[in-house]
Amino acid sequence: MNNKPIGIFDSGIGGLTVLKKIIEILPNERYIYYADTENVPYGIKPKEEVKKYIKDAIKFLISKETKAIVIACNTATSIAINDLRVMYDIPIIGIEPAVKPAIEKRNGKKVLIMATPITIKEEKLQNLIKNLEVSEYVDLIDMPKLVEFAEKMEFESNDVEKYIKTRLQGYDLNEYSTLVLGCTHFPLFKKTLSKIFSNKIQMIDGSLGVANRLKNILEKNDLKGNNKLEIEYYHSGKKTNKNDAEKYDRIIS
Ligand code: DGL
Repeated sequence: MNNKPIGIFDSGIGGLTVLKKIIEILPNERYIYYADTENVPYGIKPKEEVKKYIKDAIKFLISKETKAIVIACNTATSIAINDLRVMYDIPIIGIEPAVKPAIEKRNGKKVLIMATPITIKEEKLQNLIKNLEVSEYVDLIDMPKLVEFAEKMEFESNDVEKYIKTRLQGYDLNEYSTLVLGCTHFPLFKKTLSKIFSNKIQMIDGSLGVANRLKNILEKNDLKGNNKLEIEYYHSGKKTNKNDAEKYDRIIS
């Protein structure tokens, strides 16, 4: 048993969609949520610049004596998880677009993967698709502006709808049965997305997989806690103000 906190990291509020799932599966833990809101969005910036932001954030979480860290960000996982695992001894769990489960559920139709430009370009996702030999069933699309809308807590506005529709121009939506939400900010747009796809699409994200993996790793290493659930929030190294903390609490409740 170990009652030290678990660090959860994202560029912004997206990782809360992962934290929500983790809490369902591991309710007796203390969590430190780190949102790098001074540097969000990551997905459209140069890779080396983003790597530096990620390393600073993880250094901070390590300084808080975390017993494990979840990189609740597909973009950060794709460019930095290998480096981080070399740098630190504690378990570091990443997230990647849930391509395999989507393929298993596609039901004869195609899968559309939505992610940030970095995640789409990076080898990690490209190799995943290549190794599964599924490129003919898969299309990729980046939706970087959704990250900005999410940070403004704008999930269902006309502007959001217009942006998604514009990005989807040229795609035949009837070809797809499954949408992979390959950025942790995107589950916040599920309502708008199902409206655009006329409820005819199933959406899959990687949060359940991450929560289960974290649980297994804690169990295997005798790291599970028996705490009362507690969440502390930080924005780019500074303690989050009460107002924003309440906003975050509402997203995971
Ligand atoms: N939430 C992040 C992801 O899962 C990245 C968003 C961003 O900062 O661009 O990829």
